[in-house]
Amino acid sequence: MVAQVIDGKAFAAKVRAQVADQVAKLKEENGITPGLAVVLVGEDPASQVYVRSKGKMTVEVGMNSYEHKLDVDTSEADLLALIEKLNNDPAVHGILVQLPLPKHLNEDLVINSIDPAKDVDGFHISNVGLLGTGQKSMVPCTPLGCLMMLRDHHGSLSGMDAVVIGRSNIVGKPMAQLLLGDSCTVTIAHSRTKDLPDVVRRADIVVAAVGRPEMVPGDWIKEGATVIDVGINRIERDGKTKLVGDVDYASAAERAGAITPVPGGVGPMTIACLLANTLTACCRSNGLPEPEGLTA
Ligand code: GUN
Repeated sequence: MVAQVIDGKAFAAKVRAQVADQVAKLKEENGITPGLAVVLVGEDPASQVYVRSKGKMTVEVGMNSYEHKLDVDTSEADLLALIEKLNNDPAVHGILVQLPLPKHLNEDLVINSIDPAKDVDGFHISNVGLLGTGQKSMVPCTPLGCLMMLRDHHGSLSGMDAVVIGRSNIVGKPMAQLLLGDSCTVTIAHSRTKDLPDVVRRADIVVAAVGRPEMVPGDWIKEGATVIDVGINRIERDGKTKLVGDVDYASAAERAGAITPVPGGVGPMTIACLLANTLTACCRSNGLPEPEGLTA
């Protein structure tokens, strides 16, 4: 079987266009412009690139973007004071604190100081608990993007066997919750899993989110399975720098029914879902109906 390529770049553009349409409607009919505040502490180069890209796309869909760049040695008290100000600012509907934070800042404390209704990353413990109990929550962007692509490809996921490789709070655990919510039979595999190849071979859906370049070879993939590759790993090959996923794309594409490429798969969906979450947060806070097809 030669896999269908799931084009995350095109899908993300479609999601952003949907968000932009809804934003235009909100402005026209309700006089409301959704606003997203992004907080960056320090000068981590990768984080700077992400933050710039988020700001640009926020403006492109017609939302207000508020960027707060703080010194690397900002105190916890100053950061918490900024978050408190953003929590109380009615023009701000979404707050994202870019991770990782410098070592002297307590990440859990900082994330849990964000108003859960404005927590567009879905990392606040209240949102984690709401998702885990099947209640309305803010859902982490990368797993939400993966879910949207899976639903788009399959329609219903009910009854499918899904394996999530990786147990991070940002991707693996919320991904498993979302798949469970869509009635999949879910296994979370990780570095201590016994006989990982056999576990993966049983799966109709494989979500790889470990951050290890090409660790899933094609012969672990069940014929016709759908493979969602969350990994973005920079490697040196033939003297060049290259981005590869957690899945060996060439061999997996020979067996899978559908597969996301790296780059151009899950990556672009993350920011699209951040914008979708900001729109959702804005609608909820104003007592308006949620945008259709953009939530879990
Ligand atoms: N750093 C890398 N990915 C993310 C993300 O999804 N959210 C935040 N806040 N920081 C990140």
